[in-house]
Amino acid sequence: MTTHPFLDGNAKRLLIGGQWVEAQSGRTFDSVNPATGEVIARLAEGGAEDVDRAVAAARTAFEGPWSKFKPFDRQALMLAIADTVERHFDDLCVLETLDMGAPIARTRTYKRWIVQALRFYAGQAVALAGETPHNSFPGDMFSYTLRSAIGVVGGIIPWNGPLISQLWSIGPTLATGCTLVLKPAEDASLGVLRFAEIMQEAGLPDGVINVVTGMGSVAGARLAAHPDVDKIAFTGSTATGRRIVEASAGNMKRVAVELGGKSPDIIFADADLDRAVPGAGMGCFNNSGQICYAGTRVFVQRPIYDQFVERLAAFSRTIKVGDSLDPTTQLGPLVSARQLDTVSGYFDLAQTEGATVASGGERLGGDLAGGYFVPPTVLAGMTNDMRTAREEIFGPVASVIAFDSEEEVVRLANDTQYGLGGAVWTRDVGTAHRVARDVRAGMMWVNCYGTTEASVPSEGFRMSGYGAKGGRRHVEQYLYDKTVWINLA
Ligand code: NAI
Ligand code: MG
Repeated sequence: MTTHPFLDGNAKRLLIGGQWVEAQSGRTFDSVNPATGEVIARLAEGGAEDVDRAVAAARTAFEGPWSKFKPFDRQALMLAIADTVERHFDDLCVLETLDMGAPIARTRTYKRWIVQALRFYAGQAVALAGETPHNSFPGDMFSYTLRSAIGVVGGIIPWNGPLISQLWSIGPTLATGCTLVLKPAEDASLGVLRFAEIMQEAGLPDGVINVVTGMGSVAGARLAAHPDVDKIAFTGSTATGRRIVEASAGNMKRVAVELGGKSPDIIFADADLDRAVPGAGMGCFNNSGQICYAGTRVFVQRPIYDQFVERLAAFSRTIKVGDSLDPTTQLGPLVSARQLDTVSGYFDLAQTEGATVASGGERLGGDLAGGYFVPPTVLAGMTNDMRTAREEIFGPVASVIAFDSEEEVVRLANDTQYGLGGAVWTRDVGTAHRVARDVRAGMMWVNCYGTTEASVPSEGFRMSGYGAKGGRRHVEQYLYDKTVWINLA
């Protein structure tokens, strides 16, 4: 039986206007620990009417006392939140691990990322400024721009790392003076709820951030379509992202959508394989492959192909999969029974398509049979046109594909509907720069994989979506530019 002080037996509530309230319908739904399949909490199932209440609370806060917060006040609040989160982090990472399965060794590392993100956005709060462009209009005219907060933001986030992905909307919301209604994913809401409590403890004013748990098709859909929401920041699947964009048309809300990927990880024959094997391995397997920019298409230059497959398979067998709370565990379960079904379906498909399973490829049983565990899986003999190599699996599955020349591999890397991330492993500085330049993706890594930080901007491309994440431009997307002309004559 799982115990944690936050899991007290009562259903968790919605945070609306600073109050923790039940769903108006009184409905709840279960939250499951994917390592065991057991129900660990019940959550309020927010409906459209709860979203409406939350949006109204966010609007009231936006126009009320929160609008009087000066940049330095917002910065002070964010720094206080950062300090409070830092103090409570052990609590947060255990909840995230119990709720979505990522091993504790991984969720502990979120602390540095999250605290840094809060402090980065705190800095941005005091760096907002408009422009005074010179003009040549006849007479004597002065022009300047104001940058104002856009208003009420809807944040809709997935289950693969909610403690982190919520920051992509919380950070710029607080930095700019917007307000937020956050809709976490059905499968992983607990960390987000506890994080909201911690923000309140640090002094978050009522209504500035509201949290509505519930179903995507109901609460999420209402938020995306809501006529009084000014912007949606969405992270999740490409299919749902398309629905979000369509729903936004009703009131022309601004949208940022960070969607799926099938990112190429390119290993040249001159690469340092002692680094490239574990680097490409974890670039794909980390978080059990449930990362939008996971390097799932591993392109290996032909002279080292067989050797690389063998070493990657051997490496994958050294990875410890199991109890998420054991600090030595490297991979936990997939998030849900549904995700297990999806990933298992690709194990079968890959073999039908003619792939060779070099390691993994089957659900783990024995002690782990109660949870949704799969091993890191290496598929050899793959080609880029197989469905297994084209579709986002969101499991620890590496499709290893051979290539001959740089020109060929760039063409194959770009032969995808996505454009989120990618990497190149080589000792040749020219190759590294050319491939980083020529692969059409929002993020490229050289001789490493998957580093991100809030201060370093990134943005998807093609079906991986659009909208800046991180950096100054991200914050600017929570502001609107207003031009003012003054007749000085
Ligand atoms: P999803 O995209 O449907 O869910 C993400 C969020 O959107 C959740 O909070 C969900 O409640 C909400 N949502 C669902 N339908 C909605 C709607 N009509 N309107 C507004 N909000 C809605 O992803 P799902 O179904 O959980 O996962 C399915 C697949 O999506 C995964 O197997 C994976 O391939 C991909 N995925 C990709 C992610 C990424 O970061 N690239 C993250 C999560 C899933
Ligand atoms: Mg769960």
